Amino acid sequence: MPKIFSGSANPRLSLEVAKILKIPLSSAQVFRFDNSEVRVTIKEKVKGATCVVIQPTSNPTDTNLMELFFFADALRRNGAKEIIAMIPYFGYARQNREHLPGEAVSVNVVIRFLEAIGFDSVYTVNLHDEATEGIFSITFKNLNGFSILGSAVAGYLKNGKNTEKVAVVSPDQGGVERAQVFAENFFHTSNVDIVVIEKKRNLERAGQSKALALYGKVKGKTCIIVDDMITSGGTLVHAAEFCMKRGAKRVIACVVHHDFSENAKARLSKSPLEKIFMTNTIALRPDQKFKQLEEVSIALLLAEEIKNLL
Ligand code: R5P
Repeated sequence: MPKIFSGSANPRLSLEVAKILKIPLSSAQVFRFDNSEVRVTIKEKVKGATCVVIQPTSNPTDTNLMELFFFADALRRNGAKEIIAMIPYFGYARQNREHLPGEAVSVNVVIRFLEAIGFDSVYTVNLHDEATEGIFSITFKNLNGFSILGSAVAGYLKNGKNTEKVAVVSPDQGGVERAQVFAENFFHTSNVDIVVIEKKRNLERAGQSKALALYGKVKGKTCIIVDDMITSGGTLVHAAEFCMKRGAKRVIACVVHHDFSENAKARLSKSPLEKIFMTNTIALRPDQKFKQLEEVSIALLLAEEIKNLL
């Protein structure tokens, strides 16, 4: 069995994974100095071992990234045979091109760092844009959290003895394929119609967007909005409002990563969303919880993948 190390970004998820695999987490110390620098120390023998480091590079992104890099360096220096980064949430994935002239393509830089520092492979969950996969020259695997979320949604609808029609909704043009795949798995058929919201981003003002139009039929239906992440909540809330305006019976959401910004909770909890199913790729602070939010663990998905490494 590989050794599993946990960075400090989401220790609860790492513990859950270790519990499923029935092994203890391997010992390491992450020490933060007063000046914000961090020191990572591996506290057990790793010579010749395959080591997995679980660390979402969520907010504070740069801090969590540096810690992950230091894990790789420390493990390499201590003789680890193979080092695997398990990054449940891959920060900077949205900066995958020059959205405006003059911008850095940050995800490219992060990938080059991960490779240069000595990771042999990288696993993540629902990377924002699958095309980013092509940048990796080491082994890369993009795991899918939607199967677990889809089951949770199906259970919820069934428990409510809900038999009405369901529409799967992409809250923007970029998410059409994601919504299609979700719908095919959800309805167990490839013959699916999805609803698409036309979204306009304000590229000059980060996190601002508006919904311009809705294509498809939602009247009288339960809408499931599918997205990879929530940051400000704007995309999801505008989509939910649009669905309701067009006569949807109710709206629920199925989103992998809760990369919440400061006012996301206030915005989402006041929205027409009846329920928001999300995974625990990112640690949720107690003050970020709200009534509609239901967290579904992806620990099993990660654990199964680690088992397959053997
Ligand atoms: C965009 O392409 C993503 O898939 C999400 O829709 C977006 O990043 C969510 O951000 P926000 O919650 O700030 O609208």
